[in-house]
Amino acid sequence: MKNNDLTAPIAVVGATGNQGGQVARALLRAGHPVRALTRTPAGPRAAALAQLGATVVAAHLENRASLEAAFDGAAGVFSVQNFWEVGRREEVRLGGAVLDAARAAGGPHVVYSGGFGAERARGVAAIDGKAEVAVALARSGLPFTILRPALFMDDLLGASLPFAPWLNRRLERYRRQVGHLFLAVLAAAFPPAARVPLTCLEDVGRTAAWAFAHPALSYGAQWDLVGSRETVADVERAFSSASGDRARHWPGMALGLRVAHPEMAALVAFLARHPEGGTAAPPMALQTLSEWLAAGRFPTGS
Ligand SMILES: NC(=O)c1ccc[n+]([C@@H]2O[C@H](COP(=O)([O-])OP(=O)(O)OC[C@H]3O[C@@H](n4cnc5c(N)ncnc54)[C@H](OP(=O)(O)O)[C@@H]3O)[C@@H](O)[C@H]2O)c1
Repeated sequence: MKNNDLTAPIAVVGATGNQGGQVARALLRAGHPVRALTRTPAGPRAAALAQLGATVVAAHLENRASLEAAFDGAAGVFSVQNFWEVGRREEVRLGGAVLDAARAAGGPHVVYSGGFGAERARGVAAIDGKAEVAVALARSGLPFTILRPALFMDDLLGASLPFAPWLNRRLERYRRQVGHLFLAVLAAAFPPAARVPLTCLEDVGRTAAWAFAHPALSYGAQWDLVGSRETVADVERAFSSASGDRARHWPGMALGLRVAHPEMAALVAFLARHPEGGTAAPPMALQTLSEWLAAGRFPTGS
């Protein structure tokens, strides 16, 4: 059964996180009822969503009954898993658990956050698991749309880091330095002429909300989400003019990345080779880096 009732709620997995948070907010702005799934309904991020009008629902991807209850009667489900938190095998298992529960709940429209350029990325763990979930979704019989964001511009603000949550929480206080780290990684990993494919988190929310509102135009679609492709020098210039900070290059970064964070090194090397992605673009303009920066994201004096 397909439930296309747009007055029915959309269940957002990961609603307290970076992508799900933007999806929940975009849906609420568009007037859709939102069920925000979280393991910690009493937490401040859940409270912020409730304040915006979402219904906060306790759900755990390991708990099938909680997922089915959260999806029951929903018109749609947004699904995201954090590879950097759980690794590839778990990402696939948890992504599959969402699909199983969605089927049991009657077959809502599943919008899945997948891997950029997934058809080319063999051996890139951060993308391969997402490709597996995408194949399972396409075979599931569920109505689906797959969004494939590139690197998040928001990482210039340390917003979405490829580290375990406990480390991310520690880094919260050092966001500006984390932006420098992001730039240093780009500078070390991208050849000067290569173009870094970039997406802002807000556009994950906008495209997901659009897909849910336009099922006839989005069923079966896979969209690579790229706002702009920039050389590292472009990104550094834009960062400096928006933040007032100078980009710093850290000696030994390329080697350090390969040794300390090989999965990140593999991902960035893949993106440097294949910034073009592989599927269609979404049917709306996405924010370029300059547009995103012009929106005044950088706090002054920090
Ligand atoms: N950084 C980039 O440039 C980039 C670009 C493209 C794609 N990606 C991909 O983005 C993904 C991460 O997305 P994100 O940044 O939105 O993650 P995130 O901010 O960590 O959000 C994930 C959310 O999922 C929820 N969650 C985690 N485990 C759960 C479980 N077992 N049951 C129920 N809920 C659970 C958490 O909510 P609660 O704790 O409240 O339960 C959390 O808020 C990664 O797979 C990465 O590969 C990253």
